[in-house]
Amino acid sequence: MSKKVFIKTFGCAMNEYDSSKMADILKDSHDLELTQDEAQADVLLLNTCSVREKAQEKVFSQLGRWRKLKAKQPELVIGVGGCVASQEGEAILKRANYVDLIFGPQTLHRLPQLFDQAIKEKKSQIDISFPEIEKFDHMPEARVEGATAYVSIMEGCSKYCTFCVVPYTRGEEFSRPFDDVVAEIAGLAARGVKEVTLLGQNVNAYRGETHDGDTADLALLMHYVSAIDGIERIRYSTSHPLEMSDSLIQSYAEIPELVSHLHLPIQTGSNALLQSMKRRHTTDEYRDIVRRLREIRPNISMSSDFIVGYPGETEQDFKDTMDFIAEINFDHSYSFVYSQRPGTPAADLDDDVPLDLKKQRLALLQQRLSQQSADISRKMVGSVQRILVTGLSPKQKKQLDLSAYDTDKAVAVDFDAGAGMGAGAKNSQLTGRTENNRVVNFTGNHDLIGTFVNVKITAAFSNSLQGEFYSGHNHSIA
Ligand code: SAM
Ligand code: F3S
Repeated sequence: MSKKVFIKTFGCAMNEYDSSKMADILKDSHDLELTQDEAQADVLLLNTCSVREKAQEKVFSQLGRWRKLKAKQPELVIGVGGCVASQEGEAILKRANYVDLIFGPQTLHRLPQLFDQAIKEKKSQIDISFPEIEKFDHMPEARVEGATAYVSIMEGCSKYCTFCVVPYTRGEEFSRPFDDVVAEIAGLAARGVKEVTLLGQNVNAYRGETHDGDTADLALLMHYVSAIDGIERIRYSTSHPLEMSDSLIQSYAEIPELVSHLHLPIQTGSNALLQSMKRRHTTDEYRDIVRRLREIRPNISMSSDFIVGYPGETEQDFKDTMDFIAEINFDHSYSFVYSQRPGTPAADLDDDVPLDLKKQRLALLQQRLSQQSADISRKMVGSVQRILVTGLSPKQKKQLDLSAYDTDKAVAVDFDAGAGMGAGAKNSQLTGRTENNRVVNFTGNHDLIGTFVNVKITAAFSNSLQGEFYSGHNHSIA
């Protein structure tokens, strides 16, 4: 029986992506099967995040729990990867000497060797170097599950915002060669992928080398990706305002496959704080980007990241952020209390906003953002949305799980008679996502899974929309 690996991931989409790569690599090298049950695992891996202190502390409480498993099963291999590993390195062993592998975001491809060495030498192995160029060359072919896929096109960040550890833990910006990315996506499309999300810590800083020695930016890459047969939808995440070039903005006019949704972190609506954070742009420059995008795509949905309680944040700074959120009408966004990170320039500033006040401000800000996104959802009721159907709705899946104990009932729940979708069609509650990232549940034929359909929105709830099948993917509503 093949051995099993359990991977726990903290943090961003890049970490989720890296974890899926770790699973692919270990399957390839040691035939390790991914398990969702840590008690069944022979290898336990933690992919960590150090962007905020809380995320970092979670690492050690998780390791504490795993220590007990290792006490019962001494052969268990425990590994720590990601940004905490990159930042702390050997220091992790001081708090948790039972950890066998420590590897950074740039050395996860070396896991098989580290794993073998740890077993052979019976000694913890550490590799947190930054050999970026190798990483992408050592990845096995991605496993495709369904019609959506993430493709990492660049790594790291060279922006050095004063509060952020990422440039230190993931290294400077490094882009994958243009031809490699296009070839990978063509391969995914050939295996049924219809929607790709191009990933990078600063994805719009992409500058990939082409085979003739030129450099391609994100706009050019997306032109090529959109021309690949089968690719019908393109997303990218996450971006920096400084890199919203003219060519990238113009892409929204030229690439219909590019979604009308942009996640563009701003952090604060105060110009004084933007400057102190070294974001290197003003609120007016951000406004101008949004204005130009909305000239091309009037309904483009904007989302962002916000930090509250950055050193020196006054009531007026906070009010400026709240006003900016209302002015841009941001949709679902991410927001955080400022967390001082060792080694960053902001760590030298006085962390002078009391925690209570930070939390109060965060609650107000999140309330506004939720109100706005609820309003946007409500306004979508009655509209027809194009969605990529990704599978059964969560409710339907739950019913199926329950009814798995009762075969008669399973038949009744799974396949109601299809109405209006052809004689003998088998219908279920299906789920998919709109361009602005809302989950839509609707009743439809199983055959629709993995295709784009038009759905009329009939109701808005806090975490999802309800819809009715409107037309298949060949019927345009534009
Ligand atoms: N590349 C993105 C950008 O253009 O800003 C951000 C990537 S960062 C890993 C994700 C988010 O974490 C940031 O946008 C910021 O809101 C938040 N973040 C980073 N450092 C933080 C800190 N020290 N305290 C609180 N939030 C932080
Ligand atoms: Fe961090 Fe700023 Fe880069 S938030 S990831 S240093 S753009």
